[in-house]
Amino acid sequence: MNGRGSVRGARIAGLGVYLPERVLTNAEIAALPGLDTSDEWITTRTGIRERRVARPEQASSDLGIAAARACLEQAAFAPANLDLVISASLVPDTIFPATASLIAEAIGARNAGAFDVQAGCAGYMFALATAVGFIGSGMAEHVLVIGTEVLSRVLDWQDRSTCILFGDGAGATLVSASDNGTLFHFDLGNDGSGAPYLVLPAGGTRLPASHATVDARQHYLKMDGRQVYRFATRKVVESCTNVLAKAGLTPADVDLFVPHQANLRIIEYAAEQLGFRDEQVFYNLDRYGNTSSASIPLCLYDAVQSGRLKRGDTLLLVGFGAGLTWGTCLTTWDL
Ligand code: ACO
Repeated sequence: MNGRGSVRGARIAGLGVYLPERVLTNAEIAALPGLDTSDEWITTRTGIRERRVARPEQASSDLGIAAARACLEQAAFAPANLDLVISASLVPDTIFPATASLIAEAIGARNAGAFDVQAGCAGYMFALATAVGFIGSGMAEHVLVIGTEVLSRVLDWQDRSTCILFGDGAGATLVSASDNGTLFHFDLGNDGSGAPYLVLPAGGTRLPASHATVDARQHYLKMDGRQVYRFATRKVVESCTNVLAKAGLTPADVDLFVPHQANLRIIEYAAEQLGFRDEQVFYNLDRYGNTSSASIPLCLYDAVQSGRLKRGDTLLLVGFGAGLTWGTCLTTWDL
């Protein structure tokens, strides 16, 4: 799906994040009994050094609420003026109600509609596109878009090929109507033939929770890493090329490339194929791991804090994940 931008302009008008305090290092994971891995293997194969882990009583909505509050405070924006709250997560608090409903209630967004988006690790990109579309059509003026994940809760700590990769965190962005012509080009896609490669098998209607599903560890994330790797390297390059062409731009016109933080090797491969120089590429997965729907807003926050993202910069964002899905956006940073 190719979005050519929308009728009424939009801009990212606020940004906030929340990260749990607990840092889990590679060395701590390597020390888990029966898990045959090492700091050296994790660092060289993934680029990840540590990740954050939520406290036992924290669910995805709790992280999302903290990020949402930080975002609204940063933007000095009253929650009662929000038209819509959209939450993207691989791991909502419950199958229903939507995590967005809980977040909207907690922050006092009493005049807003609220719903969740589920598009794997590309969830934030789909939620951002939805917000821009709502604003473009005139159906909303201010939309809060949140990516929030407590992935540590669904990791199999006996599976060394997955438990090393993911982390917890949340990021929120306020997307508001704007008349100054901010650029937004999207490419959203899906290849459902890859659905088995990244899945949480039990607890839904296909395989309801039972003693047998618990015994078989089917409530944990399962991934065929090599298949996802192949898909990601191919699609990130294709989708970014597609969006740049639609906008009539080249990689040299991009100030910052922010890819989903899954694996440093995927990022480096895509950057090289697209012809980006090192200083154009942003990553922070060394500190947070793969935080799925939260990874792109967490990068935006760190990029602003470190001075690598400034008002007027041309920004290329790309997410990919379970589905398999991908979502790319070219925009101007206007905050
Ligand atoms: N420590 C030590 N050895 C390990 C570990 C580990 N943590 N994990 C796997 N290995 C072993 C494997 O068992 C295998 O051993 P074998 O050769 O004896 O069979 C060997 O290392 C190589 O395994 P590969 O799978 O080929 O390793 P690879 O270099 O491909 O790295 C990884 C695996 C990191 C999972 C990689 O495939 C990857 O990053 N894939 C993409 C994953 C991803 O991005 N997922 C998220 C998508 S977004 C979303 O929606 C959630």
